Amino acid sequence: MITGRLGGLAFGGDYNPEQWDEQVWKEDDELMRAAGVNLATVGVFSWALLEPEEGRYDFAWLDAHLERLHANGVHVDLATPTASPPPWFTLAHPDALPVTPDGTRLTHGSRDTYCLTSPAYRTAARRIASALAERYGDHPALALWHVHNEYATLCWCEHTAAAFRVWLRAKYGSLEVLNAAWGTAFWSQRYGSWEQILPPRATQWHRNPGHTLDFSRFFSDEVIAAYTEQRDAIRAHSDRPVTTNMMVPGYQNIDLWALSREVDLVSIDHYPDAPGLDAAADTAFAADRARSFAGGKPWLLMEQGTSTVYGGDRVLAKQPGEILRHSLAHIARGSEGALFFQWRQSKAGAEQWHSAMVPHAGPDSRVFREVRETGAAVGRLGELAGSTVTAHVAVLHDSDAWWALNSDGLPSSELDYHSALRRAHRALWDAGVVTDFAHPEAELSRYRLVVAPALYLLSDAGAENLRRYAENGGTLLVQHFSGVVDSLAHARLGGYPAAPLREALGIRVEEYRPLARGERISLSDGSHGTTWSESLRTDSAETIAAYTDGALAGSPALTTNRCGAGTAWYLSTRLDAVDYAGLVAELLEAAGVRPVLAGLPPGVEAVTRDGEECRWHVVLNHRAEPVSLPSAAHDLLTGGPVGEVPAGGCVVLREGTVP
Ligand code: GLA
Repeated sequence: MITGRLGGLAFGGDYNPEQWDEQVWKEDDELMRAAGVNLATVGVFSWALLEPEEGRYDFAWLDAHLERLHANGVHVDLATPTASPPPWFTLAHPDALPVTPDGTRLTHGSRDTYCLTSPAYRTAARRIASALAERYGDHPALALWHVHNEYATLCWCEHTAAAFRVWLRAKYGSLEVLNAAWGTAFWSQRYGSWEQILPPRATQWHRNPGHTLDFSRFFSDEVIAAYTEQRDAIRAHSDRPVTTNMMVPGYQNIDLWALSREVDLVSIDHYPDAPGLDAAADTAFAADRARSFAGGKPWLLMEQGTSTVYGGDRVLAKQPGEILRHSLAHIARGSEGALFFQWRQSKAGAEQWHSAMVPHAGPDSRVFREVRETGAAVGRLGELAGSTVTAHVAVLHDSDAWWALNSDGLPSSELDYHSALRRAHRALWDAGVVTDFAHPEAELSRYRLVVAPALYLLSDAGAENLRRYAENGGTLLVQHFSGVVDSLAHARLGGYPAAPLREALGIRVEEYRPLARGERISLSDGSHGTTWSESLRTDSAETIAAYTDGALAGSPALTTNRCGAGTAWYLSTRLDAVDYAGLVAELLEAAGVRPVLAGLPPGVEAVTRDGEECRWHVVLNHRAEPVSLPSAAHDLLTGGPVGEVPAGGCVVLREGTVP
């Protein structure tokens, strides 16, 4: 645990001292002390300085910064700089530049201009990782290794084509099996030799869904291989934990369950894409996924913003109080600290308008005052280190289902995987319940309620697992267009969803009937749906609500089925938010799941971290007025008893005594 080395929870951020001079470094030292910074992520984009020419290293400047940080009591999260190859590299290895689906080869001038499958890039990445580990592997300041930065660049070049073929041969063994798997009998797509297979580049119309799904799986494996090569190069010289920072929305083509198994500490970056309560809900959505990917073990918020994030609709100035609330929201859900991108706002360069802990205005600013306040708060929460969070509800998450739902030619363009997950999570968050995410094939028996909001692709094993979960006493909610295709993205025949799940639900879906954009369909219980409807019949299930409109009038819309010792529900439309909240409340009640703290009004979030001898309730008041607590309790932030949470404020209540 890095908290052992840090002596508490982590607080700090990306630190790029190479953008500044000695006078600023001195001020950085002072301000870091003032803000309670104990961890700085160094070297993320420093490749050109560390290796100015191929094979020639210059470590002197980094030696000096690590010594300075160490002397100042700041530990280092040392990055390998491979997310931003220097110009010399791309000029020497033009074949290592990424190629877009339409054949455009990108060039340097930004960052992430690499092709992960290029042998020259992989060799150079291993070499610099190894050189850094050899030099700094047991440096006393070193707390954590940070491999790369948000692996995200996809590529469709010839190296990728070759690597994709190797992956496909290993998976399918023969072209005959591949042709059957991809359904190439349609549209004359049959492959007669491996060389005929290309990455799914720009083409005339719909791409083959088997082809695109396998490409996503292949590229995810490639990312994980690139990461593990660097990790192993580091481990040869260092015993410090190794991570790579993940982006939890759909931005990276990675199976985060698989990548998480390869890191010593799951770390994520999080930038909410909406203001106010939506940002708070999105923070919980990110944090709950991070904790789940970490298998319930502590994880780390590697990056967040202090205010504006450049770029399109991500330009959102944080409101006063949100730096603390968002930081504590991550910590409440299992993060072992709160870090930011970046320490000091750049005066030049591509991210000069991205907020930072020390803004352009300097330390005499609202942002820096809030950063200090947050650092002080995090500093008082050291006793939470290593404690865990328990959830009784899970939302199912599977990258295969996500990628398959991105296929061309689906019956509606309004099916978005992450929006569906976010919506389910939001309804649970609004109900005051903490949610885990779980893979459909994972052991689910610890959950009282399991929700499957967008499980378009469901493996045979997953379908069987869900049936078993319900049979053994669980409450299962399966939502529209789930269990539709198998692991090859082939449609399930004889009625949807996959047979074991169909039996558990006691229904058979005969036909999908997407609704027109803006169309709203009525249900007999007074609720309404949009986007989607289905023609289904009940076998053993009971109809809770039927459609009342159009061709489906009288057909079941929402059903429930007794399945062994449990109950399996099926919802065949996208209910309006208020109706969906009502259904979720009913299921929580039936499953015996209560909010973390009873009696809190909407907009007040509470999460519990459990330790061995005591527990801590983190209560975040996102409202503009103070909120009374059910009873007075000891607050770690103020060090005394509190009976209310101030408007926009936070408390951390200890129950029990610290050993
Ligand atoms: C990501 C990156 C950072 C920075 C931020 C900006 O999280 O890791 O380098 O670009 O985005 O939001």
